[in-house]
Amino acid sequence: MAEDSAGHPVARTRTASLESLELLYEEAGQPRFGLPPALATAYGGDLGFALPCVYANFVTSIDGVVALGPEYPSSGSAISGREPTDRFVMGLLRACADAVLIGAGTLRATPGHQWTPDHVCPQAAPAFAELRQSLRRLAQPKLVVVTASGDLPTEHPALESGALVATTVEGARQLEGRLPPACTTLTAGEGTALRMADVLAVLHARGHTAVLTEGGPHLIGNLLGEGLLDELFLTTSPVLAGRADTSRPALITGLELLPKQPAWADLISARRRDSYLFLRYRLRSRVLGHRARTAQPSASRDSTFKSSSAT
Ligand SMILES: NC(=O)c1ccc[n+]([C@@H]2O[C@H](COP(=O)([O-])OP(=O)(O)OC[C@H]3O[C@@H](n4cnc5c(N)ncnc54)[C@H](OP(=O)(O)O)[C@@H]3O)[C@@H](O)[C@H]2O)c1
Repeated sequence: MAEDSAGHPVARTRTASLESLELLYEEAGQPRFGLPPALATAYGGDLGFALPCVYANFVTSIDGVVALGPEYPSSGSAISGREPTDRFVMGLLRACADAVLIGAGTLRATPGHQWTPDHVCPQAAPAFAELRQSLRRLAQPKLVVVTASGDLPTEHPALESGALVATTVEGARQLEGRLPPACTTLTAGEGTALRMADVLAVLHARGHTAVLTEGGPHLIGNLLGEGLLDELFLTTSPVLAGRADTSRPALITGLELLPKQPAWADLISARRRDSYLFLRYRLRSRVLGHRARTAQPSASRDSTFKSSSAT
């Protein structure tokens, strides 16, 4: 049997064949988790994160659209064309995460979804499990949903599977007795919106230091506004989405950056499959939200939230 870096036995698994990404560029000296061979071959190299880390994953059209509007559920799939390599990268990034963080808007817009690696790329499930075992992660990342209003589709299967729901006092009141038993509610003591640094502090206190956000433009805006986003994985899908009268947001909503607060980023890697581009950026985020960043989340901040199970 094969062994991981600490000498513990790791079961080698078979993975149905995956299309490979072509590596175009990678910055030297990146952290490496030691991906199982099937994942490393498909990704075009190794992948890792310096922890703690908050990293986002988005797919965008060529003209910068990330969501088609409320009348189109699961619009990320429409933008990506359900490209298998994009779904593989989505699964791989989930497989590296302790927790997947989304806003209620994304939950409401994506019925039937599960924010697990296997859901988007089932053929790599054995290799994802092998990776999580070698990283000492739980079998699946913990889903974390933030909502101020408490307006959640409480019968959503992702909530049925169990999630942390971070909310306000008013949100908790709206959700009282409505969430599935597998959910835990984290209620902030005051305010009409959550300070994302406090949410991350709770996650860190629970041992969730690799946090993937698949939230939409509002949540990304909030994370950037507090200077909390470390990296961005951006898939550019070779399609034009267009805009008529409906709102079709780009990556960020609710936060104006240029010209006063430019949020520059450095390219860490670039990969390609056919006409799809897979870009990885490091945010020079200290420009923004300096105070939030210096008030680093710590275990002691867990007390900002009151935790209660849904039963
Ligand atoms: N292309 C892609 O890769 C991609 C990725 C993700 C999402 N999307 C799309 O984006 C669209 C949804 O966009 P969105 O901006 O509405 O999604 P979102 O950012 O995930 O959700 C926004 C909601 O999250 C809650 N929220 C965010 N920050 C909060 C805070 N600091 N405190 C308390 N609650 C907070 C609020 O919920 P309440 O309203 O309940 O208070 C807010 O309305 C969907 O169409 C989805 O498919 C696309």
